[in-house]
Parts: sequence; structure tokens; C-alpha cells
Amino acid sequence: MVSLKTELCGIELDNPLIPASGTFGFGYEFAEIYDINMLGSFSFKGTTKDPRFGNPTPRIAECDRGMINSVGLQNPGVEKVIENELPKLKRCFSKPVMANVSGFSVEEYVYTVERLDKEEQIGWFEVNVSCPNVHGGGMSFGTSPEAASSVVRAVKAVTKKPVIVKLSPNVTDIVAIAKACEEAGADGISLINTLLGMKIDLKSKKPVVANKMGGFSGPAIKPVAIRMVYQVYEAVKIPIVGGGGISSAEDVIEMMLAGASAVEIGAANLVDPMACPKIIEDLPRVMEKYGIKNLKDIIGGAH
Ligand code: SIN
Repeated sequence: MVSLKTELCGIELDNPLIPASGTFGFGYEFAEIYDINMLGSFSFKGTTKDPRFGNPTPRIAECDRGMINSVGLQNPGVEKVIENELPKLKRCFSKPVMANVSGFSVEEYVYTVERLDKEEQIGWFEVNVSCPNVHGGGMSFGTSPEAASSVVRAVKAVTKKPVIVKLSPNVTDIVAIAKACEEAGADGISLINTLLGMKIDLKSKKPVVANKMGGFSGPAIKPVAIRMVYQVYEAVKIPIVGGGGISSAEDVIEMMLAGASAVEIGAANLVDPMACPKIIEDLPRVMEKYGIKNLKDIIGGAH
């Protein structure tokens, strides 16, 4: 018998799989096709203080081994999330959930975390300082150690729940930013968000997505994600949620060997909504193949 259990900031997970924010709605949509309680947890749709319609369409472009999105943090705003989305989620998911939060100022991050903090089902905050699709928010906080740590310090002051910071790969020194977040009190690091990318249509000779650029995700970015998780694991003591192009049990194991305590699955959910159940089912066989008894034991094993 193998064990898939792992732990994230003091909360035990039945397995390391966490569908990534923006690829899993508020969970109840996927609960129509399988029992989402089989997941470790999931990170719900990025939530902001005010409702957001998102960017103009088209905002998705398929690419080789991946896709570009420029959704622009479309969400109903924190009040409606609390009023409408979380009660629906509670009916189909009995585990702690990860609340993904974005903002356009430190005050907005604080407001949204403070409002959500009262929600019992929220186990962790995933503070997104890395959305590449909005101007003046998100990623601008994630591209400097000082700005990222100012967000962390401010949200840590209003919640006792673990704060995990989601970092952008679109930086020159990921380690400096991760270390600054740890020093500011972050309880965990989540990486990577999408890589800024672009696709041009040969017929129209124009960018495919209306916002011109967007976040590139999917299997093509996995080596970048593995490299960044590996580097950050060497530099910080807090746990890492690793993600970026993960789509198989083998990928999950590779990501944990790099240093991840839990693993986010993003674009794979959009290709196959059953991706997560398939990976969970496949993990014991792949663990046995590679002589792994406890997934927990392999975290950082490649170092
Ligand atoms: C988006 O809504 O634009 C994607 C969110 C993100 O990349 O953080």
C-alpha cells in the first residue's frame, strides 16, 4: 500500500492534487462530473474586491503544447463570491479550500482577505501577485521583492490562516522575490503562474487575443516550472505549491522531487475535465514503478 498523503502549512491533504485557480471555477461546476472530494483541495477562481468583467474577447489562443489566456481576472467580486459561490461550493466539497485573491492596491488585497477570512471553509489564502493580464495590479506586485513583501505583510496582519503567495515566472530573479515573501511572513510559495506570451494570426496578421498578450500555460512550460520550484526550494524553508504544465502522475512526482509539497493542475483541467481523477488513480501505479511508498518522503528528493 502506498500513501498519497502530504501536508500544506499544517493541513493534511489526502493527496497533493490542487486544481489551479482559473481552471476550476468554484468547484461545484466540476462536481457535476465527479466527486471533487477526491482532490487534495483546489484553488478557487481569483477573487477581487470589486466585480470584474475581464478583458475583451477573444481571450484564449491555442498554441503548441499549451494555450494563452488573457481573461483579466473576471469574477463577481468578493461580496457575491461570499453570497452566491461559497454556499454552492460547501454543498459539494467538505475539505478546506484555497482562496485565490488578487488586487490593484495593497488595500484591495487586505479588504478581500479580511472579508473572506470569516469563511470557515477557507483553509489557505493564495495571494496572487502574478496575473499578467491586468495593468497596474497583480503582476506589478510580483515583479519586485519590495512590492510583493508589502502585500504579504499587509494581508498577514488581517488573517491567521496560512498565506501562500503565487509568484510570477516573468521575473529575472524568482529566488529574491520568494525570499522577500518568506521574510515578510508568507507561510508558503506557489509557483509558477503563466509566462507572458503572444500568438499572431497569419491571415489577419494581428495578435490572436484582443489584449495582444496573455499568460502562456500548458505542458510546454513544465521545465521552467520545475527549474523555478527547484531553485526556490533551495532558498526558502516554507512549503511550495508547484504547478505549471503538470498533466500526469509522472509530472506530479517530478514536481515533488523538485521541492513541491502539493501540486497544482491548471491547463490540463481545460483539456480534459477528468484530468485530476485520472492522475489520482494513476499515482499508486507510478509510485510503485519508481519504488515510492510515501509521496511525502520524496519532497525535494532531487536536491
Ligand atoms: C486571468 O484572469 O487573467 C488569469 C489569472 C492569472 O493569471 O493570475
